Amino acid sequence: MNTQKQYFTTPIYYVNAKPHLGHAYTSICADVATRFKQMDNHDTFFLTGTDEHGDKIVQAAKARQTTPKEYADIISKLFQDLLPVLNIKNNRFIRTTDPNHIQVVKKVLSKIYESGDIYFSSYEGLYCFGCERFYQERELVDGKCPDHGTAPEIIKESNYFFKMSKYQEWLINHIKTNPDFIRPAQYKNEILSFLKEPLEDLCISRPKSRLTWGITLPFDEDYVTYVWFDALVNYISALEYPDGERFKKFWPTTRHFVAKDIIKPHGIYWPIMLKAAGIPIYNGLNVHGFWNVKGSKMSKSIGNVTDPVQVTAQYGVDSFRYFLMREMVFGLDANFTEETIVSRINSDLANDLGNVFSRILSMTHRYFNGEVKGLDLQIEQKKSLSLESDAKTAIDAFEQAMAVCEFHKGVGAVWQFISIMNKYIDTNEPWALAKDEANTPVLATVLYNLIEGLRVVSCLIYPIMPDTSYKMQKTLCMAKKENGFYTLEETASWGQIKPGTLVEKPGILFPRIDTDKIPPKETVAATKSFKPALKKEITIDDFAKIDLRTGTVVKAEKIEKSNKLLKLQVDLGAEVRQVIAGIAKDYTPEQIVGKQVIVVANLKEAKLMGELSQGMILAANNKKKLVLSGFDKKIVPGNQVK
Ligand code: MSP
Repeated sequence: MNTQKQYFTTPIYYVNAKPHLGHAYTSICADVATRFKQMDNHDTFFLTGTDEHGDKIVQAAKARQTTPKEYADIISKLFQDLLPVLNIKNNRFIRTTDPNHIQVVKKVLSKIYESGDIYFSSYEGLYCFGCERFYQERELVDGKCPDHGTAPEIIKESNYFFKMSKYQEWLINHIKTNPDFIRPAQYKNEILSFLKEPLEDLCISRPKSRLTWGITLPFDEDYVTYVWFDALVNYISALEYPDGERFKKFWPTTRHFVAKDIIKPHGIYWPIMLKAAGIPIYNGLNVHGFWNVKGSKMSKSIGNVTDPVQVTAQYGVDSFRYFLMREMVFGLDANFTEETIVSRINSDLANDLGNVFSRILSMTHRYFNGEVKGLDLQIEQKKSLSLESDAKTAIDAFEQAMAVCEFHKGVGAVWQFISIMNKYIDTNEPWALAKDEANTPVLATVLYNLIEGLRVVSCLIYPIMPDTSYKMQKTLCMAKKENGFYTLEETASWGQIKPGTLVEKPGILFPRIDTDKIPPKETVAATKSFKPALKKEITIDDFAKIDLRTGTVVKAEKIEKSNKLLKLQVDLGAEVRQVIAGIAKDYTPEQIVGKQVIVVANLKEAKLMGELSQGMILAANNKKKLVLSGFDKKIVPGNQVK
């Protein structure tokens, strides 16, 4: 049994929009770190989930004319469904609407209230009724709300406040005496410099007259908690605080993963909340930078919100995971473009890793019919043929980097070793050795070292590319089981592959992506014979005005008082749209959920039977029945239909 424990968490994501590349990155970081700790003999627990209360969710649900809970159910499911797509193995998925979470939030609030650190007071501020929130003066544009263009009104409201200022000195001291509490160091310094100014107390409630979608305060029925007092507590409610075995076992070992946008709540509010509630402080915070897309911040209005499901479908899950871990220096911002992912796949995966794998196994088949021959120690020493110390250097560097979440360096250490192996092949020229039978023991020794090198590489890439690790190990006849792994000690123990092992022929691990051979755009042939019955001819430019997209129906329900209409929620890649479709006579809601359809995505919004419709799905008449348009293969949502 592993005595060392490790608990990792991701932020719980807001359900006001569907998951994008940034969410995928944090979750993959936590998955990679968890798998690495397992290799390092740790008993692990990995939590992710969704944050479902508050204004943002109410607004998003309103826009779709649905209830916050129904809306949260749909989007939370998209976050849950993304996990297996990204090969993420979490232990638990928490939702802040879970009854147990709500109980724990109340318990923590009561504890702090009873200790006297929560007080009631009135607050005056600039309030925008359109956004239903207070603004700081510096957030306004020419004194007006940036979203509504109207001047906010000064309103006075009574609320509950948390005495953060009382714990400021304690927190500064805690951060200074625990150098790893916030990593990397630039974020620790950011928090410390923030703490040089006096901390304002935190407003933790909203009156129910303004917001009902939240957890009622245990000491005042007329108020709900606001955002952070609910969300942050998920990290302990998921472990069944206070009496759960998991809480006792894992809480002291917690490391939270977050991006730089939420370091203040995690680096300041959360430790102070824990301190005030008498709960031990979490062990540490790992903070990463932001993914930009083609140099710009991801945003719906620019239309560059990158869908991880789409990227995975296009390039494969391991390539995507590799790219994210290799390209971003943990802590700094990085840029996502198609060109960079393709170039990483072609150079690092197809060329470096793919080539070394196929070269070594092909030579083993060519020269020894696939049998791993034993090495000759004397020859190895005399000719300095051992790769053992290079492997050890790579394992040590990998271990050191991965232990502090420097994933790019960990990957770099493995690729350094791959490059050594490629050079070793070029220097020792097995093809030349094979020409003379007298050299067979040298050839056997060279190939044994290379096969061992491949074994080490296959073990080290496990946290980042579990499927590729498995494929390599299967070929080397050393696979434990699907997604099984070797510990760091096992990995480092040189000479694991037994002489006499018959290895398989290598498949292609990563096919090269030929950037010159992007398929030509299809042209639409005009059908002349039916012209008289057709509508007036249009030009290709007219047609180009219609934005047709692939969509997946994720929810469907009947509309009361209509026997024709169904209310659908359709996943369009970057967002989930509500579409009212006149197909209720020919499809039941159950029949249509999961169907892939063609959506007219730039159709002006309209209301049908009082329900908002944000597009139209295409169907054809057949013998007086409607048949939905679709595709003959599974396709990712949001692609253009041309
Ligand atoms: N619900 C809060 C978190 C509560 S945690 C107790 C929240 N949700 S969020 O949906 O906005 O998620 C923010 C997190 O998503 C970031 O901290 C980061 O983990 C991830 N990312 C969102 N956009 C990102 C990028 N562009 N790049 C990298 N990560 C990003 O805040």
